[in-house]
Order: sequence, then structure tokens, then C-alpha cells
Amino acid sequence: MNNKLFSLLILSIFIAGLTNVRSQDITLPVPDKTGGKPLMQALNERQTTRTFTQENLTLQQLSDLLWAAWGINRPEEKKRTAPSARNFQEIDVYVALPSGLYLYDAAGIILKQVHNKDIRALCGTQPFVATAPLNIVYVADMGKLGKKEGDEIKDSELFWSYANTGFIAQNVYLYCASANLGCVIRGMVPKDKLAPEMGLKSNQVIILSQTVGVPVK
Ligand SMILES: Cc1cc2nc3c(=O)[nH]c(=O)nc-3n(C[C@H](O)[C@H](O)[C@H](O)COP(=O)(O)O)c2cc1C
Repeated sequence: MNNKLFSLLILSIFIAGLTNVRSQDITLPVPDKTGGKPLMQALNERQTTRTFTQENLTLQQLSDLLWAAWGINRPEEKKRTAPSARNFQEIDVYVALPSGLYLYDAAGIILKQVHNKDIRALCGTQPFVATAPLNIVYVADMGKLGKKEGDEIKDSELFWSYANTGFIAQNVYLYCASANLGCVIRGMVPKDKLAPEMGLKSNQVIILSQTVGVPVK
């Protein structure tokens, strides 16, 4: 290996170390924060869809969708497109794709791979969930509210997390209406089976899941 190549290799390892990006992560394109349908038109077209083609979303659609959902819109304050009670921002957005499970890193605009298993079928009890190209799983990281692993978490303590997730999910509905995609928010989720497959700790609680895809016309 010549000196130039060696320096390049060292530099790329150094940059990867700095940015914490691994080869299996998906670096998303910068989200397009312009355009789309006017808000009133998107509201008029918002609806639940349960029949999807198996067509994948483009990386640009995925990036735009996740930014609309729970992206950072005020970087100086690290605040987001959806509100969150007391700004705890405890909701983590996981993305189940055919290539594996990923965690959306809004600051880095990256999908960090959790593992490379296709767990879409476990994201819901309805048949379309397994074959739709994308399932989002909303997880409350109760560690951000001071809960340690093994601590009891009462349903009443998840009240805010359900409300926070509702705002994010509605952003996804509106993005889908604007981008001619379809989605369904789902409470029917086999949480006991899904949580271990996602590698969640006991203080990370699945709230809801949302399937997204290209609707069958
Ligand atoms: C909290 C919540 C949970 C839901 N759970 C499911 C579900 O598990 N499966 C499903 O097919 N639809 C689910 N839905 C979608 C509703 O059935 C749907 O919003 C309703 O039928 C109204 O249709 P619309 O969204 O097109 O207005 C859920 C909606 C909400 C708000």
C-alpha cells in the first residue's frame, strides 16, 4: 500500500470514528424541507391505508418522512417537528426494513443499524405488516425520565409517551398524504414478542407502531 492510500485509509477510519457511522448504518440524504402539498390539502387527504405494494420508499422519501415525523427543526435548541411533554424527547423512532432494524438518529440524519434481521412480521398482528416496506416502532426510553432497568413502569406513567407518539404519528400521516404514500398507526402490536427481538431493555417501552408504504390504487 502506498503512502497516499495509507493516509486516506487512516483519514476515513478517523472520520468514521468522529461521526460514529458504521458501514451497516444508512446515511440518509438531507431532508427536503420545502414543497409538498399545502397543509389544508394534506389534511383533506389524510387517511388510513392498509393495502400496500411491496415497492420500497426511496432514501429521500425515508429521510423526508422521518424528518417530518420527529426531525430537528430548530437545531440551536435541538427541538423537533413534534411537541413533547416537558421536552423530554423520550420517544425513539425505530425503523424495521427488509434489511434490518434501525434507530433514527435525527441529529446525524442517519439510520443506525440495531441488527440485520427482518422483523417486520413481528411489528403487528395484521398480515399486511409483514410485507409492507416499512414499519416504524415508537419506543419510550423511560431512562430519559429516570427509570432504571428493572424499575416498575406503571401504565399511568406512559400517559405522556402515548400523547407524544400521537403527535409524531400524525406528522407521518400528513407527510404520507402530501407524498402520495399510505400509512396506518397501529395499537395491535405483539409487544412481548417484539421487544426482545428489538433488543430493548426493560425501561424501553413499545408504544405504537405505524406501517408505511405505497398504497395499492
Ligand atoms: C391509537 C390508535 C390505534 C390504532 N390501531 C390500529 C390497529 O392496530 N390496526 C389498524 O388497522 N388500525 C389502527 N388504527 C387506525 C384506525 O382504525 C383508523 O384511524 C380509523 O379507522 C379511522 O380511519 P382514518 O384514519 O382513515 O380516519 C389505530 C388508530 C389509533 C388512533
